[in-house]
Amino acid sequence: MSVSKFGADIIALLYTLVKAVKVYDLNNDVVQTASKKAVYSIKTLLNIFSQVQLVRYMDYVFFNKERLRFEIDGYASLQFIHDKLKLLGIKSLSFLPGIDKEELIIFASNFIGEKKIFKKDYASSKFKHITVEFSTEHDEVPDFLRDGERIKRTYFKALKVTKNLMQNLWMNQPVDVKSSRRIIYNLIDSLTQDEFGLLALTAIKNLDDYTYNHSLNVGILSLALGQRIGLSKKSLAKLGSAGILHDIGKVALPKELIYKSERLTNEEWDLLKKHSDYGVKEILKARGLDETGLISMTIAYQHHWNYNGTGYPVHKKDETPVLFSRIVRICDSYDAMTTPRIYQVVPYLPHYALRVMWKLRNVWFDPLLTKIFIQLLGLYPIGSCLELDNGEIALVIRENQGYPDRPIVKIILDRNEKKIDGKIIDLSMNGGTKIVKPIYAQKYGINPAAYFM
Ligand SMILES: [Fe+2]
Ligand SMILES: [Fe+2]
Repeated sequence: MSVSKFGADIIALLYTLVKAVKVYDLNNDVVQTASKKAVYSIKTLLNIFSQVQLVRYMDYVFFNKERLRFEIDGYASLQFIHDKLKLLGIKSLSFLPGIDKEELIIFASNFIGEKKIFKKDYASSKFKHITVEFSTEHDEVPDFLRDGERIKRTYFKALKVTKNLMQNLWMNQPVDVKSSRRIIYNLIDSLTQDEFGLLALTAIKNLDDYTYNHSLNVGILSLALGQRIGLSKKSLAKLGSAGILHDIGKVALPKELIYKSERLTNEEWDLLKKHSDYGVKEILKARGLDETGLISMTIAYQHHWNYNGTGYPVHKKDETPVLFSRIVRICDSYDAMTTPRIYQVVPYLPHYALRVMWKLRNVWFDPLLTKIFIQLLGLYPIGSCLELDNGEIALVIRENQGYPDRPIVKIILDRNEKKIDGKIIDLSMNGGTKIVKPIYAQKYGINPAAYFM
């Protein structure tokens, strides 16, 4: 059993106990049994691990340093425990050897109460075998999450690999399949550790060259969406490679066409659309026919197919794109819409792009995947700039699980539009501050991506 599975179990047991305490008398059998089960589990875990600790950071919950995922199974219990930890201002909660049924029941009955009372009871050391660390206003990142640098390194390495891959194909050179595979697994690991840390980096647009940046962003977004729908690591690796390679057919097109700064003519558009066909040929040339290659070919061919049977290359209406193509279709469109380009100097604001995509569900996009994608990115995706009702301008640095309209933000401009290294505010906790509207950061000479680099 994995660490996170143990974590999910203990969360479920605590949830049952807290719910029971809410409804029944503390002496009631239901409460007693629930506590007995939870204590038994804690004791078992203490035999396996050196500690039994829950940590809440931003909107994540970690069990023994392993992040617990919000999945369909156990969603309610994790959300409940997460919200309670947050409400009580608890940063970490550890259960120590010697804990018994009675102590856990008292703890549970306090856990459903108010912050003030909880803190008072904790201070009076009512619980001897439970230690709590409370959050402070400027909460430090837990040690095990100080991984921003590693995630950034992975991103830039992946960008380099993407670039090499495409350049080699462009020049008919052999492709380093091994290093691309390695980097995909590194991306998956970064995503498992801190989904939003990696997603934030997809706010980087046009850093080097549109094609490389876009290809990698589509790969990362596809991995994140794939992870949300529960794909295995093996499947994710295939999806990630295929996501990065979706536009590979463009290497077969004249460079002048790709980098043309004026509007394309109809003939040029028709030629550009050929990148779907060319993609198949390029992958065939480079990778042979392993499974990842086959899947990548399918996606290169289908990534401009719409959900309703339209799109190019022209195909039969009842020929539906495979799941991976439907995933890449969504991530590709989102990244393209939110990136400044020759034909679209002012890109869509991320929240607006999502709104457009929501309208196009069933038409361009798979409706269920669109819904999960929007849930993943939140109403105001990471990298969005927001005007707050106190006049300050903030940057979204993290989504808030369960509160899509109230992300975690960093203040970057004060009321007088002066750039500042401002506070980090959790808008789901900070009742006073409200979002007025999302804005273009460029208006203030700000590049949101710079904050994540
Ligand atoms: Fe494309
Ligand atoms: Fe694309």
